[in-house]
Amino acid sequence: MFGKKKEQPQIDKEQLELIRNAQKRIRQKKRLYIHFVIFLIGAVFLIVANTVLGIGKDFRILDKEWFLFAIFIWLFFLIYHIFNVFVTHKFMGKAWEQKQLDKLIAQQQIKIEQLKTELKKEASVIAESEVYNESLKEKEKTSTLTIIGAAAENNAIGMDNKLIWHLSDDLKRFKNLTNGHHIIMGRKTFESFPKPLPNRTHIVISRQTDYQVPEGVIVVNSLEDAIDAAKNDSQPFIIGGGEIYQQALSIADKIELTRVHDTFEGDAFFPEIDLSIWKETANIFHTKDAKHDYEFSFLTYERK
Ligand SMILES: NC(=O)c1ccc[n+]([C@@H]2O[C@H](COP(=O)([O-])OP(=O)(O)OC[C@H]3O[C@@H](n4cnc5c(N)ncnc54)[C@H](OP(=O)(O)O)[C@@H]3O)[C@@H](O)[C@H]2O)c1
Repeated sequence: MFGKKKEQPQIDKEQLELIRNAQKRIRQKKRLYIHFVIFLIGAVFLIVANTVLGIGKDFRILDKEWFLFAIFIWLFFLIYHIFNVFVTHKFMGKAWEQKQLDKLIAQQQIKIEQLKTELKKEASVIAESEVYNESLKEKEKTSTLTIIGAAAENNAIGMDNKLIWHLSDDLKRFKNLTNGHHIIMGRKTFESFPKPLPNRTHIVISRQTDYQVPEGVIVVNSLEDAIDAAKNDSQPFIIGGGEIYQQALSIADKIELTRVHDTFEGDAFFPEIDLSIWKETANIFHTKDAKHDYEFSFLTYERK
């Protein structure tokens, strides 16, 4: 927010201090070196001035040439300078730098340990959520929403609210597969039955709010509510008709389709099966015979 100071990480300050001190130290040593060189040149100059040029030849202290005293005094200052650089400022020497470095390393190790514990915490949270998601997926997987129906080659499934054909083995298969399960259907399909089918829980979808049904039949106002009403079933079935198949195709896990190998006039149709989404996993052909006027195949599709 406004006025909030930008936080400088501790490591930057410490490193900056180290760099500054290193630069200072280099400058000190450089100055000492220059001093030493000037001293050498100066000493030679004093000796030459006295002995060669004869400057102050008659001036003697304690019977000694004056330049000797001058050189000794300068040497004293030079030693004092050396002492300052290598003794007085020793606290900024290698040992001091090592101490600072150790301090930094210790701080970084503490930070690394903190990061490690945070990372461990996060990893366990991620692992827990992954396990949770997996268990959710597993739970979801335990219920297979299956579309079941019979459609002609041109996808016709019914006419005047009636089935177009009578295929006894298909009806048997329907009975066997749906037995004991929830069967979800549109209002019109429900009305096409003379009475509810035995041993199945009927869920009828209608937009009507006062739609009357026999006892035991569940009425809902949407496909979502129908699926919710069948949530405890491991395999609820969508049994039609055309409107409900169309809406359920995008959420179903499986299709059990009886493909009747002929074309028929109809007013209700099965939706087109998109083979980029669905893969055929079973195909059982059934011939035409005394009980069956048409050839047909039991096809199973599963979502890819
Ligand atoms: N060959 C097969 O396997 C097979 C299987 C089943 C049925 N069929 C045939 O298919 C035909 C019936 O199919 P259909 O398409 O005409 O009708 P349908 O799908 O059985 O029922 C349509 C009705 O369902 C309700 N409905 C649809 N979507 C809804 C939604 N989203 N929310 C609330 N209610 C919704 C409406 O009822 P309300 O009008 O009451 O609001 C609608 O009129 C019949 O000929 C039947 O024999 C064939």
